[in-house]
Amino acid sequence: MEKKSKLSGRKPISRLFVLFLACVICGIFAAGNSVVAREGCIDCHSNTDLIVTNKKLFDYFKEWSGSIHKQEDVTCSDCHGGNPDVSSKKAAHGGAKGTRKMMKAVNFQNIPATCGQCHDDILDGYVKSNHYKHLKSKKQVKQGPNCVTCHGSLNSVALNVNTVSQTCQSCHNQKSKNNPEIPEKAEWLLNKFLSAHRLFRYVTIKSSTVDDRAFLKKAGIQIQTLSEEWHTFDLKLFEEKTRMLLDALKSKRNEIKKRSKK
Ligand code: HEC
Ligand code: HEC
Ligand code: HEC
Ligand code: HEC
Ligand code: HEC
Repeated sequence: MEKKSKLSGRKPISRLFVLFLACVICGIFAAGNSVVAREGCIDCHSNTDLIVTNKKLFDYFKEWSGSIHKQEDVTCSDCHGGNPDVSSKKAAHGGAKGTRKMMKAVNFQNIPATCGQCHDDILDGYVKSNHYKHLKSKKQVKQGPNCVTCHGSLNSVALNVNTVSQTCQSCHNQKSKNNPEIPEKAEWLLNKFLSAHRLFRYVTIKSSTVDDRAFLKKAGIQIQTLSEEWHTFDLKLFEEKTRMLLDALKSKRNEIKKRSKK
């Protein structure tokens, strides 16, 4: 933005003054070589010198930079906190105790709340689950999974039919005797759920009437709600609702097919 007005050569004094004031407030002066960083965390953590000096640290940056969160402009400070507007490490991390605080935001028990800042609907479902009880309870021997256990942390991915059973299996297996039938069931259920997604897209493309559109609006809300309810891990209820949705979508599809034959 500033570059453009510089080119035109007509920067109004008042704007310059505001800019000057802003610089004073930030404590940054044009004479120094520090520049107000777009996102100080990324500027520093992406420094390729780190490949040699602190490779593990650089790997965290690399992992994030290939993620959907990067695409969506969700940056380090959104999950870790700290101050993204400064370029010095100490100030960015929030002083001497800062890194501890940053790690606290992503410690095992606090992760759901950190992710839930944006995924609030999913968090609502998750806190109703048995998993959450086992995450929060101090006495429990069996560890409950949090968001990151199932989705990964910096490079969060949605599970699919090929990955879901493996994810559940790490806790639900013959050896742990913790509901070993769950992984297979989850794979089957997710497949059904994704069928509903596919049918929904088919009906969307073929829809033409006011009635179709009203149907789609309702079904769209149901799909959204089911994504949240998946996280309560009440599989019986989820199965029932998914079946009802699939049945409704199938009969709509048949109706559309019949109509187009006429
Ligand atoms: C000027 C460079 C610089 C800036 C700016 C910076 N960091 Fe760091 N960060 C580092 C280095 C170097 C480390 C390795 C540990 C250390 O030296 O303190 C680190 C460590 C970390 C850690 C790991 C802490 C631990 O205890 O293992 C996290 C998390 C982190 N930074 C997040 C952030 C976030 C979030 C921001 C922005 C708000 C940020 N950093 C800004 C250089 C920086
Ligand atoms: C979507 C949320 C999210 C974003 C965005 C994110 N992180 Fe993290 N990060 C986490 C979580 C959760 C953990 C801890 C769990 C783990 O290590 O798998 C973590 C762990 C780390 C660690 C390891 C600390 C240690 O010592 O174990 C570092 C370093 C780090 N992140 C740096 C960054 C940097 C740098 C960025 C930006 C380029 C970033 N993170 C962006 C969620 C995030
Ligand atoms: C600052 C907001 C924000 C935070 C914090 C955040 N996310 Fe996201 N996340 C998004 C956005 C935006 C998307 C892309 C749109 C969508 O799928 O909802 C997304 C997408 C996702 C996806 C879907 C990926 C895909 O391939 O479809 C998963 C899984 C996910 N996030 C998990 C997490 C986890 C786990 C955490 C915490 C470690 C987290 N998110 C923290 C905003 C956030
Ligand atoms: C026990 C494993 C598990 C846990 C714990 C878990 N999820 Fe999920 N998550 C899934 C499965 C399975 C799906 C459904 C498949 C899909 O859409 O990816 C899903 C879907 C998602 C999606 C994609 C939803 C969409 O509309 O496509 C996001 C985002 C997400 N989860 C975020 C989170 C967040 C945030 C948490 C923590 C509060 C969390 N998950 C906890 C397994 C889990
Ligand atoms: C980190 C370990 C862990 C992972 C990973 C995990 N679970 Fe769980 N799950 C638990 C624990 C612990 C319980 C509580 C068992 C109990 O109450 O005895 C539980 C309970 C459940 C229950 C309730 C069973 C009941 O009747 O109480 C369901 C359903 C469930 N998990 C589904 C899943 C699915 C689906 C996945 C994969 C997408 C998954 N879990 C991944 C640890 C895990």
